[in-house]
Amino acid sequence: MTNETPTVDAPAEIKIFDTTLRDGEQSPGASMTLEEKLQVAEVLDAMGVDIIEAGFPIASNGDFEAVNTIAKRAENSVIAGLARAVMADIDRAGEAVRDARRGRIHTFVSTSPIHLQHQMMKNQDEVLDIITATVGRARNLIDDVEWSAMDATRTPLDYLCRCVETAIKAGATTINLPDTVGYATPDEYRAMFATIMEKVPGADDITFSVHCHNDLGLAVANSLAGVAGGARQIECTINGLGERAGNASLEEIVMAIRTRGDVLPYHTNVDPSYLMRASKLVSTVAGFPVQYNKAIVGKNAFAHESGIHQDGVLKHAETYEIMKPEDVGVKSTSLVMGKHSGRHAFREKMKELGLELGQNAFEDAFRRFKDLADRKKHVYDEDIEALVEDQMAIAGEAVKVISLTVIAGTSAPQKAIVTMEVDGRHVTEEAQGSGPVDATFNAVKQIMPHEARLSLYQVHAVTEGTDAQAEVSVRLEDGGRIASGRGADVDTLVASAKAYVAALNKLAIKRIHAQGVREAS
Ligand code: KIV
Ligand code: ZN
Repeated sequence: MTNETPTVDAPAEIKIFDTTLRDGEQSPGASMTLEEKLQVAEVLDAMGVDIIEAGFPIASNGDFEAVNTIAKRAENSVIAGLARAVMADIDRAGEAVRDARRGRIHTFVSTSPIHLQHQMMKNQDEVLDIITATVGRARNLIDDVEWSAMDATRTPLDYLCRCVETAIKAGATTINLPDTVGYATPDEYRAMFATIMEKVPGADDITFSVHCHNDLGLAVANSLAGVAGGARQIECTINGLGERAGNASLEEIVMAIRTRGDVLPYHTNVDPSYLMRASKLVSTVAGFPVQYNKAIVGKNAFAHESGIHQDGVLKHAETYEIMKPEDVGVKSTSLVMGKHSGRHAFREKMKELGLELGQNAFEDAFRRFKDLADRKKHVYDEDIEALVEDQMAIAGEAVKVISLTVIAGTSAPQKAIVTMEVDGRHVTEEAQGSGPVDATFNAVKQIMPHEARLSLYQVHAVTEGTDAQAEVSVRLEDGGRIASGRGADVDTLVASAKAYVAALNKLAIKRIHAQGVREAS
């Protein structure tokens, strides 16, 4: 007998690969400006995300610039650029991540019969040759190469094994097997990884990765099942943003692993106290509100309404809470500031909320705070966050709302007079409409003429009470282009005008980019 204590296996490290800026941004209407992408990347880098997929460099000059700038600035994360199985894509991705401390080329090709037959018009052997050539090309440019089998979950396993073996031989260091159309079930997904890892020569030296879409609401469950099957990297997005029903949600994965360590013997490097901040930022810049009952970061995720639950939580939080709100960066709503609060207190509050602004932006925020405190009795943390988010959204906009007057009430038609700053000039227009929002949008349209269709108009209150700030989201569609905008103000109509103008500004940028790409090609 010895006195040695039995060794317990350390939890396996799971790499978190965030693709909010690539797969998330592909979500219709979620496109972000360069400045917004840099802000998101900064938070992801600080919170411990292992790999940030910063974009698809060949897609546009804007995408290239975003990936390249993020690559230069990131301090911790590996920066990945996506590339189709095309030499020009791979070279462009390599160029974009070349200046990163640690860069990665992520290249993919479809492997399922349905994609080969109807989209690629290639046979299986041709695809194997493409894998050899393209992964080899990427590996000549950089040591860190990820290869993805698009639509892996609808690919026959024996052929998928041949593809994976080919990619490994060509130099791939990470193999990703995506559930591209969100079709898999957890058992199937786990078994796929276990089989491939058992059968493919060389699999032991490779990191396997999961990438799940949420078409059947199974993305997080499938991701965790893939990890049970042997994968050690999870691809996911903040708020589950992504194509169609979205990708697996980063915050849900991180907190599931952290909360259920008893049955999920893994750990990630993500600091969960950043989750709420990251969620709010992505929601703001993408213009996608977070549903109230969204796990981890929804407004109601830690709210207890029923008497029995409230009673339990007051006596002992763990009666109904499996996570602490502060662990994910949720602060309890506190009455913070009023119109007598000065610069010093405001600066301290901004620090507490993790909002760092340069001197000019700070002065601007302070002025807006004073203005808000004059109009609103209680200024809560959420109000200050909304105010700063609104300010960030407006900064850099070509056209801005300066003032709005609306005549509304029971006697139609309602009328709006709006003044906007266009190229440094103030322009005023007046319009009627059926309802005050319609009248406001008509007046804006006279200043910024367009043919875009309004496909979403949504209002929610930042805090409680009739003097709460309204946060408005607007989505516009124009000839296949989609843009979202958001605005906040104690006046719902002013918030609506800001959101509408923000979406129009984004559409204008997209039009200019599209024109640039057409002219360049
Ligand atoms: O869903 C998917 O298959 C993808 C690949 C490009 C990795 O996003
Ligand atoms: Zn995807």
